[in-house]
Amino acid sequence: MLYYFASLLYYFASLQLLISVFAYYKRDMGNKKRLVVLTGAGISAESGISTFRDSDGLWEKHSVEEICTHEALYRNYDMVVQFYNDRFAQLATVEPNAAHLALKTLEDKFDVQIITQNVDNLHERAGSSNIIHLHGELTKVCSMKNENLIVDRNTLPNPLISGKDVAPDGGKWRPFIVFFNEAVPMIEPAIELVQTADILLIIGTSLQVYPAASLSMYAPRNAEMFLIDPKPNTAGFNRPINVIAKGASEGMKEFMEIMNEKL
Ligand code: APR
Repeated sequence: MLYYFASLLYYFASLQLLISVFAYYKRDMGNKKRLVVLTGAGISAESGISTFRDSDGLWEKHSVEEICTHEALYRNYDMVVQFYNDRFAQLATVEPNAAHLALKTLEDKFDVQIITQNVDNLHERAGSSNIIHLHGELTKVCSMKNENLIVDRNTLPNPLISGKDVAPDGGKWRPFIVFFNEAVPMIEPAIELVQTADILLIIGTSLQVYPAASLSMYAPRNAEMFLIDPKPNTAGFNRPINVIAKGASEGMKEFMEIMNEKL
């Protein structure tokens, strides 16, 4: 039994090693270092989108239990839908800011991979190429009968959904948002991405919501880590991190200077 267990452990360890060696050489051949970026509400604050937990944050004005849990969706359907309809409508009034645009610019010199907790579409509108949304997207809705039936709101006769609108499978539409007490389907691909990072950059997140807040743990030992946030939460890190205690745009300016020196 012990021998069987030991060989299993050995098999998985060598497989892990093989994967990371292969990933390293594949990237080295492309010469662009992989910059994995984890963003939170703070990167969109300068575009006029409220964060959640700052003094003027959304969760200061609305109860998470009433608005953003799986149970709330079934208990207060109209209120939940209205809240996300309003946030969707707000997208038309805001623009990507200098920090979003800087991440796009970095694609010239780095293999930039963005993992965002944000449900806004400002990374896409800034032109970034590789984006994983961990917590869903405001621009989409899905059926409550089959949550894999996902459509872009703008393809619907009424993008601001209501209980009267019915999905093709007969279900009611719901916001394509990961509510509290719901699974985070994109966490696996996000972990795999962080495991291949040469540099991990974290921007504008309080790192209080899991599993997103645990992602830095998966970065390779030799990966450099940076955190840009005016109120940096460094409690959860298991290794040294370079802190830039500034707003996203000013912080990105400093980060790009550091990166330019390295190239
Ligand atoms: N530039 C950079 N960071 C900023 C700025 C700014 N201009 N303004 C505020 N911040 C920082 C705050 O200091 C804070 O650390 O942004 C962070 C925002 O934290 P939260 O409001 O907790 O947002 P976030 O971490 O993205 O929340 C995670 O919680 O409510 C859920 O699903 C929701 O995705 C969200 C998740």
